[in-house]
Amino acid sequence: MTETSTPETQEHGQSEFVVVANRLPVDLERVEGGPDRWKRSPGGLVTALEPVLRSQDGAWVGWTGVADVDVEPFEEGGLRLHPVRLSADEVAEYYEGFSNATLWPLYHDVIVHPDFNRTWWDTYVRVNRRFAEETARTAAHGATVWVQDYQLQLVPQYLRELRPDLLIGFFLHIPFPPVELFMQLPWRREIVQGLLGADLIGFHLPGGAQNFLYLSRRLAGQNASRASVGVRSRMGTVQIDDRTAHVGAFPISIDSAEISKLASSPRVQARAKEIRRDLGHPRRIMLGVDRLDYTKGIDVRLFALRELLAEGRVDADDTVMIQLATPSRERVDSYIKMRGDIEREVGGINGEYSKVGHPAVHYLHRPVPREELIAFYVAADVMLVTPMRDGMNLVAKEYVACRSDLGGALVLSEFTGAASELRSAYLVNPHDLDGVKAALVEALDQTEDEGRRRMRAMRRQVMTFDVDRWARSFLSALGRPDLAEETTA
Ligand code: ADP
Ligand code: G6P
Repeated sequence: MTETSTPETQEHGQSEFVVVANRLPVDLERVEGGPDRWKRSPGGLVTALEPVLRSQDGAWVGWTGVADVDVEPFEEGGLRLHPVRLSADEVAEYYEGFSNATLWPLYHDVIVHPDFNRTWWDTYVRVNRRFAEETARTAAHGATVWVQDYQLQLVPQYLRELRPDLLIGFFLHIPFPPVELFMQLPWRREIVQGLLGADLIGFHLPGGAQNFLYLSRRLAGQNASRASVGVRSRMGTVQIDDRTAHVGAFPISIDSAEISKLASSPRVQARAKEIRRDLGHPRRIMLGVDRLDYTKGIDVRLFALRELLAEGRVDADDTVMIQLATPSRERVDSYIKMRGDIEREVGGINGEYSKVGHPAVHYLHRPVPREELIAFYVAADVMLVTPMRDGMNLVAKEYVACRSDLGGALVLSEFTGAASELRSAYLVNPHDLDGVKAALVEALDQTEDEGRRRMRAMRRQVMTFDVDRWARSFLSALGRPDLAEETTA
C-alpha cells in the first residue's frame, strides 16, 4: 500500500456509491477449529445505515472488528464489502485509544477524562489515510462517498487530495461538543480541516452544526455563514478557496415501518407473552437496552430503582426491571471500571430485594437477536432511556415503533438527540435523581388514556421521520437526489 498515490496514479474502482465507516456492517467471529463466521456489528450506526445501503448497489469500506487479519473484498446480502486491515497496535491506539478514550469522552461532555496521547494521534492519522486510500481504490470516477463518524474525521480531506473527482459527504453519529470542550483538543485545527474536505458535513442537531461553523471560522480561518442553520434541511456554508462546504442538521432515525411490522407479527407477539410468563406475570416490566457504555446512564436508572424500592414506592413483588447490555469496548479502562460498578449495583439490588426465582433486576450482558429484542420492547411497560449524553439514541425510537398498540411509556433523557423529537416522552434530567424517580413512578402509574395520548404523538414523529427520509434529506443536500430516490425502492 503506498502512502503517496496521486490523482494521476490512482486506479479507480467500480462503485458509484461508497459508505466508509470504522466497522463493516458485519463483524468477523473466529471460532477455533471452525470456519469464520460473520455477525451483525454493534451500535446505532449499522442499525441506521444497513437498510439504506441494502436498497442500493453500494460498497462499504470498513474494519472486520478483528486485528491482524487480511480479508479480500466480498459480497454480503447484495453489498460489496471492502475490509481495511488494522494491526493489534492500531486497534489499541487508533480505535481503543484516540477514538474511544479521547474523542468519545470529549464529544460526550467529558463524562470521563479524555486522554490526549500523541502516539494515539499519530496512529489515528495513519489509519485515516489508509481508509482514504482503500476508498479511493473502490470508488468509480465521479462516485459519491459517504464517510461516517468520529473515527474517520480526517478521511474527507485525505480522500479529496487523492480523488478530487468524488462527491464527499460526512455524517457524525455522536454529539458534536460545545466549543469550549472541543478547544481542549490539541489537534482541533487538524480535525476541523479534515472534516472540511467534505462537500456536506451533517450533524444530528442544529446546535452541533452551529458549533462546527463557528470553529471553522475560528480555527481554519474560513468564511463561514451560520445564520441559516436552525431547522431540518436548512444549511450553513463554509467557503474554502473556490469550493463551498455545506453544513447542516439531519436527525437520524430507524426503519420504522419494518420494525413496526415485525413487532405486530404473531411470532413476536407470542414471544412477548412468553417473556412476561417467564418473568412470573409481573404487573409491570421496566426495560433498558444499551451498549454497555458510561454515556448511557445505566447507573442512573439503577440508583433510581434502588431508592424507589427502599422507599416502598416500587414493589419488587409486582415490578421487575430487565437490563439488556451489549458488551462494548471491553479493553478500554473506563469501560472495565463501569462494568464492575454496574454489575455490583445489580448484585446489590438483587441481594436486598429479590426472592428466590424472582430477581428484581434481570441483567443480560450479551447482544440479543433482533426479533427477540423486539419482543422485549413489546413486553415492556416502561422503557428506560437515561443517557448523560447521546447523539440520537435509536433505542428510544425502536421502542416507539414497536408500540402500534399505543401501550407502554418512554422515560427519556433530555440529553439525547431523540428528546428534541419525542417531546411526549417522560423527559428527565439524568443528573436529577429525584426527578428521574418521579418520572419513573409517573410512567409506571400512568392511566391508559394518558399513555395512549403520549404514544400516539411519538409514533406520528417516528413513523413519519424514518431512516429513509433521513438518507434522502442528506443525499439530496449533497446534490444526489437520484441516489436518494433509489433508497425508497
Ligand atoms: P449506540 O449507537 O450508542 O449504541 P443507539 O441507541 O443509537 O446507541 O443504537 C443502539 C443499537 O444497538 C440499536 O439498534 C439497538 O437495538 C441495538 N442494541 C443495543 N443493545 C442491544 C442488545 N443488548 N442486543 C441487541 N441489540 C442491541
Ligand atoms: C456508536 C458509534 C458507532 C459505533 C457503535 C458501536 O453507535 O456512533 O460509530 O460503531 O457505537 O461501537 P464500536 O466501538 O463497537 O464500533
